[in-house]
Amino acid sequence: MIIQRFVLTAFQQNTRIIACDETRQAICIDPGEQSNELESFIRDSGLTLQAVALTHGHLDHIGGTSALHEAFPNAEIIIHQDDEDMYYSLPAQPMMLGIGPDQLRALGMEYADPPAVTRNWEHGEIYEVGRLKFSVRHCPGHTRGHVVLAEESERNVFVGDCLFSGSIGRTDLPGGNYEQLIDSINSQILSLGDDFTVYSGHGPETTVRRERTANPFLIGTYRLGKGKYL
Ligand SMILES: [Fe+2]
Repeated sequence: MIIQRFVLTAFQQNTRIIACDETRQAICIDPGEQSNELESFIRDSGLTLQAVALTHGHLDHIGGTSALHEAFPNAEIIIHQDDEDMYYSLPAQPMMLGIGPDQLRALGMEYADPPAVTRNWEHGEIYEVGRLKFSVRHCPGHTRGHVVLAEESERNVFVGDCLFSGSIGRTDLPGGNYEQLIDSINSQILSLGDDFTVYSGHGPETTVRRERTANPFLIGTYRLGKGKYL
């Protein structure tokens, strides 16, 4: 599996190209903004971009969709249905985060309407990229329609903003829900197995084992469904 990371946007978001090294089929997970370097990597590596694969609809994960769609118009654009409204609200998202009109240009956040979504993720589907098989897991909590993509043969999971090295995604934005996020992380990510490598939307890579045993939000006595802090 080819995994190439590009750190983009003022929010230092991890945009990734993931490709099958045999068939050269590729997806871009969460294009944060337009990047010549990213587009050149796809072309120079002889990859066929089959999809813009979005984990969720926040601006720092979708802001580069328009540019990538223009450069590679055959790539489908996939997001969970529950984040479609957020996706289409891209031009208004900076304001929702308290970013004023006078700051938009400096931050590269003067967004036009994004291109139409061509398909929605379905929880439980297997999405094939050449010989890679990603299981699509709905993980609400950071946003309503967040998904993670788990590739079982090479034990990699791409988790967007659900889980970070030593932290978890924020839940104070529209659609966020703390208990739902903890439940999603436990049931859809930690359950994959300790040997999975975790690729987050911000910051360094980690492993399920490290987060299960050392992440302060996930260890201790807090257990959903059993009451708080038993
Ligand atoms: Fe996010």
